[in-house]
Amino acid sequence: MALLERHRDLATVKHFDPFRLDTTNHCLWRGDERVTLTPKAFDLLRYLVEHADRLVTHDEILEALWPDTYVNHEVVKKYILGIRKVLGDRPDQPQFIRTFPKRGYQFVAATTDGQPTTGSAADPTTPFIERRAARAQIEACLKRALLGTRQVVFVTGEAGVGKTTFVDMFVRRAGLMPQVQIVRGQCVEGFGGQEAYYPVLEAIDQLLRRSDDERIVQMLAARAPTWLLQFPSLVKAGQHAALQRETLGATRERMVREFCEMLEAIAADRLLILVLEDLHWADLATLDVVSTFARRREPVRVLLLGTQRPAAGASNSTLSRLRQDLSIHGLCQQIPLETFELAEVSEYLGREFDHAGFAPSLSSVIHRHAGGNALFVSALVRDLVANGTVVHDDGEWKLTAPVQSIAPGVPPSLQDMLNVQFDQLTSVEQRMLRAASVIGERFPAWMIAADAGELEDVEGVCEQLAERRLFIRPTGITELADGTMSAHYEFHHALYRQAIYGRLSDVARSRFHLAAAARLEALYGPRPLALTAELAAHFEKAHEYERAIQSLMLAAANAARRFAVRDSLDVLQHAMSLVPRVPSPRRTPLEIQILERIGDAHYALGAMVESALAYETESALASRAGLITARVQAQSCLARPLGLLDPDRAIAVLREAADVSLAAEDPVVQARVALLAAGTRLLYDGWDANDARVCETAEQVIPASGDTATPGFDRMLYAHVQALQGDASAALNAAERGLPRSNEATGVLVHLFALSAQILALLQLGRFGDALRVVRASQDLAQKNGSDQWLFLYREAWLRTLVMDFAGAQRVCQTLLQSSVYPTGQAKTIGQLAAGFQALGEGAHDRARQCFEDVSDPAQTPKFFLHWYWRVHALVGATRVWLQAGDLARARSAAGYLTRAALATADPNLRALAWETTAQVAIAGTDWPSAEHAIETALEELTRRDTPMSAWQIHATASDLYRRTGRREASAAHHDRALEHLEALVHSFEPDEPLRQALVDAAPVRRLRQEWIEMEL
Ligand SMILES: Nc1ncnc2c1ncn2[C@@H]1O[C@H](COP(=O)(O)OP(=O)(O)OP(=O)(O)O)[C@@H](O)[C@H]1O
Ligand SMILES: [Mg+2]
Repeated sequence: MALLERHRDLATVKHFDPFRLDTTNHCLWRGDERVTLTPKAFDLLRYLVEHADRLVTHDEILEALWPDTYVNHEVVKKYILGIRKVLGDRPDQPQFIRTFPKRGYQFVAATTDGQPTTGSAADPTTPFIERRAARAQIEACLKRALLGTRQVVFVTGEAGVGKTTFVDMFVRRAGLMPQVQIVRGQCVEGFGGQEAYYPVLEAIDQLLRRSDDERIVQMLAARAPTWLLQFPSLVKAGQHAALQRETLGATRERMVREFCEMLEAIAADRLLILVLEDLHWADLATLDVVSTFARRREPVRVLLLGTQRPAAGASNSTLSRLRQDLSIHGLCQQIPLETFELAEVSEYLGREFDHAGFAPSLSSVIHRHAGGNALFVSALVRDLVANGTVVHDDGEWKLTAPVQSIAPGVPPSLQDMLNVQFDQLTSVEQRMLRAASVIGERFPAWMIAADAGELEDVEGVCEQLAERRLFIRPTGITELADGTMSAHYEFHHALYRQAIYGRLSDVARSRFHLAAAARLEALYGPRPLALTAELAAHFEKAHEYERAIQSLMLAAANAARRFAVRDSLDVLQHAMSLVPRVPSPRRTPLEIQILERIGDAHYALGAMVESALAYETESALASRAGLITARVQAQSCLARPLGLLDPDRAIAVLREAADVSLAAEDPVVQARVALLAAGTRLLYDGWDANDARVCETAEQVIPASGDTATPGFDRMLYAHVQALQGDASAALNAAERGLPRSNEATGVLVHLFALSAQILALLQLGRFGDALRVVRASQDLAQKNGSDQWLFLYREAWLRTLVMDFAGAQRVCQTLLQSSVYPTGQAKTIGQLAAGFQALGEGAHDRARQCFEDVSDPAQTPKFFLHWYWRVHALVGATRVWLQAGDLARARSAAGYLTRAALATADPNLRALAWETTAQVAIAGTDWPSAEHAIETALEELTRRDTPMSAWQIHATASDLYRRTGRREASAAHHDRALEHLEALVHSFEPDEPLRQALVDAAPVRRLRQEWIEMEL
């Protein structure tokens, strides 16, 4: 069953010799043997054991076990009788349960706590044949694991050969050793590829349920937050947002690595055996875990034990390749299990029939027919007893027919034998088993009961079948979401289930699958996240393709939640393959939804070309179908990867989308796309006051998202626009609201853009230290996640140019140029600009001018995000080169270009800088009126908006001008202001931050401080 259903309780094992009460698996063990108890009897025993310190009254029992129904005291008595029978207890000399007449009972045996062994599947009542060679092999592995060498072991062999039984027996023995922990994960047929990490999550779930302290949860929070997040109920209220942030944009690589580290931490003080059953059905993410774990080098006491059938199948061939590869490198052991030899079958029969004389001759018949397959052997033996060929009479086993006459009657295959058995059942029993076969190897009774009222009947029928050892056996009980207790059962073996399932007609199969889906939905509501893969499988087999596709899309989102984006792509491709089976008029909307998710997933993986292709197909499809809103949406998505690949196309696509949206008659849709289109033009093409107004108007139409909802991508784009027109505080506010709490593919995008806007706003506000902290934290996170850090490297380069650490900026840009697979205009530009300013500082005018000219030349550096911003800075540089070189005429003309370019933007920093540079040119030419005009205009820019980033430079030049023109007081005042602004920038950094020193050491800053000393003197 899916994870959701496994409720968390403080399950442990209680030992009371010679029994073990396993409350995790809801079963009672006597030594190696599982003792059958009805669910209620189990609960009663458990209640008594858990309150062994005192008398438990009749009323208390009724209250605890039958809270909502009236039950007679006699019923309790009956259950106690049953329990005593099982325990072999006598009321007159009680070893376990003492009766206090008319009052109640007390459990009197000494109990100790332990841990559950396993959710074992083997039937304890059949004999066990030792596989000596295999046992020696696995015990050798166990020894190596105990010494700290990680072990990965694959037990392989055909269906029914005895893998599970072998592993169970090993694990049971190992479980008797002190300080050994065992967890199991079961791969489920049909879940592979749809439920990423299914068996691994199951194993962790067991660990969590078993530990009654906070230790494991804390360890997960510290070492494996991506996994803790998969168990929302364990995450404390205040912790959730932080965890989400910590794990945003995480990748499969990170998740897998964290899992390995978690195992290493858990196994630090005790050996851990992790059993992964039926790996041939594993999802690719789980195989990744196995592969990565096997390849790590750290010493750790873990034994990872997987079972695998060699049959064909996609993930199976991946697994076979993985196994071979690990084996070649000596990183795993393989234990192949063979079919039983004749001698082993003989031993089996000897044990089963107390060494009766007929056993040896009967064994050769059975060995021949079963081909030595353990499953078939055990089934045949069971059948011989069931049909009366072998009987227990007078304390001994007897054959009722001569061996020679048995042979012809033996069914030629297991399937035939099961068919015969099945046909002999009552129609109610048959119906029940048919419905169960649709659910899986293990099934809860409630899934086949039409409603709560029928549950008891179903359990009754199942209980009877189990008692006769036909097809199924009980495995425990669980509490459902609505509080009902329901028993669980399992087929003796997967082939038993298949025998029944295979016989269902297509119509019956559909009907049962649909009923199963309906039961799931009835209990968990229409969108139970953890059950989506299961639901999808039921719908698909019920030929309900539309609902299957809906569930698959949710399953894909679920995979993305586990950072298994590649797996989510597989699920989406599968959903796509089902589309042709949906009636044609309903296909297109589904296809559109799937394509958009495929585009999102590719984008999250950084595959921009594939992402663009998916969105483009989506858009074309919507266009053909005349679906306006869908088309606009697809185009809005398409513009995102295009922004990186080809900004001009992004702009064109959004322009088209804006035109198309006019037909939508939905003002919000229109406003969103208008904002995107105008905002993209502003950021990628050039500043335009008109577009800025369009953004502002559109933003007012889009409903403001409340505190809980994360604002959309368009809002984050607009935050950049705001930051660049002097509304940096508003931009910062918006960006911080956009730091999202969800980690789905699209969420990552909004988050990235929110961080980008946040950093930009902080830079514009002169909060350099804060900007640096966000950059560093984001870089750390990206590194942890194994995702590309490009965005944050860009922002770091930007910050370094602002603090005049030009060498550092060039280093960062170099890294970007070497690592990026996408257009690198931005890295080239910032690098060139920094090189130019560095050359200028060194007096290398020609080199500096060349750099600045390259940046300004659109042929050298094509369009990219905010290219115009850097080109204005290049013009500042070019003007200063001429100024320093003493070529006033060219300096003046460069200043003219600069002012025109800067005034075409709305960025007060750029505008003020342009005027300030113009003032410097005028000062050099002793053109005092022009200088004064320019500096006054620059100062005016400062008063209109917050411009802490560049204010110090303006005041410094103002001070210089007034000093030269003899206005000492004004000069001193501006000098003070310049220093004030500069100090604020410097102090925004931590005291020992190297970038702070870079700013302090920069030539213009040193000069300003020097002047101060001179003025004081
Ligand atoms: N060593 C053994 N001794 C006695 N009986 C065995 C042994 N191994 C297997 N069996 C019998 O064969 C049945 C099937 O074995 P088991 O479930 O272990 O096979 P498997 O290899 O795990 O099959 P699958 O590939 O389908 O999972 C068991 O239920 C048991 O009855
Ligand atoms: Mg098995």
